[in-house]
Amino acid sequence: MSVRPIARLAGLGVYSPEHVVTNQDFERSLDTSDQWIVERTGIRERRWAAEGETLASMCKTASERAMQRAGITAPDVDAIVLGTASADRLLPSTACDLQAILGAERAAAFDISAACSGFLYGLTIAQGLVAASGYRNVLVIGAEKLSAIADPTDRSTAILFGDGAGAAVVQPADGDGRGILSTFIRSDGKLGDYLCRPSGGTARPFDGAVLQDRSHFIKMAGREVFKAAVLAMSESCDEGLRRAGVTADELDLLIPHQANIRIIEATAKHAGMPMEKVMVNVDRYGNTSAASIPLALAQAESEGRIRPGSLVMLVAFGAGFTWGSTVIRW
Ligand code: ACO
Repeated sequence: MSVRPIARLAGLGVYSPEHVVTNQDFERSLDTSDQWIVERTGIRERRWAAEGETLASMCKTASERAMQRAGITAPDVDAIVLGTASADRLLPSTACDLQAILGAERAAAFDISAACSGFLYGLTIAQGLVAASGYRNVLVIGAEKLSAIADPTDRSTAILFGDGAGAAVVQPADGDGRGILSTFIRSDGKLGDYLCRPSGGTARPFDGAVLQDRSHFIKMAGREVFKAAVLAMSESCDEGLRRAGVTADELDLLIPHQANIRIIEATAKHAGMPMEKVMVNVDRYGNTSAASIPLALAQAESEGRIRPGSLVMLVAFGAGFTWGSTVIRW
């Protein structure tokens, strides 16, 4: 039975900071090597925001590009859903700051906290807003400034993360079969401690002791995250395909969250997808968490790897743990 899409992605826009940080740059400040980083992660370089560049300013550029592609302007936007783990301020949401600088005066704006799965959680929410609230233009954004929350003295995390923003305008489907065919999201809070920022929230507010033990930065148990990620990505592939009523053979492109080349390869293997049908840009951007999937999606579109009618599956996992998938007829 074929699925009738409710919503479609009408335009994409991305922003990536100009400042490139290479593995060689880390060799100068940490006990690490280009060879170790490339072998274990596949990452060669990442982009970091310049001084004065904020999450909201990166989101603004990506959003304006997406709106232009969709043929709308800021006053047309009904809702702004921003997935991020690195908000500019703890209060209010960065989505509200973005609303102000975009001039999206009619919009409801809010952040969602689903880490690297944030863009896929956002698409799921947008689809629901289109279906249940009659919204015609929902701006879904995945964006991060992880360079501000990664510990520059911790070699096991500092090398992984990058900054960037990706946005999509979600509109009601046209009835031509193109649009979101399936969404799947899940979480397991029992795994939360494996990847977290222990301090700086209300349970352990920021103070001198926190500054001393550096527990306001990201802490990660890499091996545990790795194992859970492979399982979560595999379940997400299976559920995405099942809910969309399609098989892996029919997919034109798999776009996994860009955390680590070995996790991407394990996911492709589980889904039975050859690597030439898998989008990989972790080598250039590192792990940009919620921004990773829209950055990869926009690159795939600009390179002609997805065209109108292509079948594409997005798959993510992240802190929480959260995970999920979205299958789209482009
Ligand atoms: N350079 C050199 N050595 C390092 C570095 C580094 N940058 N980082 C760690 N090491 C060392 C460790 O100290 C350890 O040394 P030891 O054996 O003397 O104790 C050794 O390398 C092995 O460490 P492991 O952590 O076991 O290395 P592993 O092969 O697991 O690779 C990695 C580490 C790359 C982090 C891996 O575990 C991984 O990719 N995990 C998943 C991480 C991930 O994807 N996180 C993000 C997901 S969620 C999100 O996107 C927000």
